[in-house]
Amino acid sequence: SKKKTILDFYQMKKNGEKVSWVTAYDFPMASFAEQAGIDMILVGDSLGMVVLGYQGTIPVTMDDCISHCQAVRRGAPNTFVIGDMPFGSYQISDEDAVNNACGFLKEANVDAIKLEGGRRVISRIKAISDAGIVVFGHIGLTPQSSGQLGGFKAQGRTIDSARELIKDALAIEEAGARALLLEAVPPEVTEYISKKLSIPVYSIGAGAPCDGQLLICGDMLGMFQAFTPKFVKKYANVAEIITEAFKEYISDVKNVKFPEDKHVYHIKDSKEQFEAL
Ligand code: KIV
Ligand code: NA
Repeated sequence: SKKKTILDFYQMKKNGEKVSWVTAYDFPMASFAEQAGIDMILVGDSLGMVVLGYQGTIPVTMDDCISHCQAVRRGAPNTFVIGDMPFGSYQISDEDAVNNACGFLKEANVDAIKLEGGRRVISRIKAISDAGIVVFGHIGLTPQSSGQLGGFKAQGRTIDSARELIKDALAIEEAGARALLLEAVPPEVTEYISKKLSIPVYSIGAGAPCDGQLLICGDMLGMFQAFTPKFVKKYANVAEIITEAFKEYISDVKNVKFPEDKHVYHIKDSKEQFEAL
């Protein structure tokens, strides 16, 4: 199908048609997502945890993000891809942030970038948008600042904190972001914000009343084993399928059940000629 643009996502919001998005970090996963007909793919800095084995997202570098975005783009050439700005790539200055955002487009051909934070990153959102780049905002549980949040904790559960989120959401739209992701906030807050904003508002762990849903592929496919957030629905247990396959393979090798005759390349000349060697 035809590759979607940000205008399609605006139209879908208008029509009440939900957007499905998922993270992917490599060629095969991106291919599967595109073949399934996903609306958009996030190459999240969650790649640090899901595919690189770090405990959080902080160690992830621009180079990591670019090379995973390149693999995803090769696997999903006709899907809207969002590159996640890693920690350190937009904290320093507007200029540095624009430079890094440009790198995502020039080197990995992504369609949009995403960065974390509300009013504190407004000048970054504005600067990157002014460079002509589609920016997605991300507030609520923001893993890169989980140190300040005291861990991976749901946000906006008190009136004061909900009010702060709403102010952040309005400021993000005002700064030029073309979409906003809410992570781990109450559905009431999500509904309020998605009605208030004209840009699409998406949820990961933020309930149904908004314009679409995101899940991390490692969580929804049952590949990420360190922990599973409350908001995850597991659609498969891929870790179990892979582990069972490896076990069967190990046993076949030990018992010389693999390879079989159909897995080998026989000599094309006669057996007699070979024996005469
Ligand atoms: O990195 C990521 O996958 C994300 C989601 C958790 C929203 O930013
Ligand atoms: Na992220």
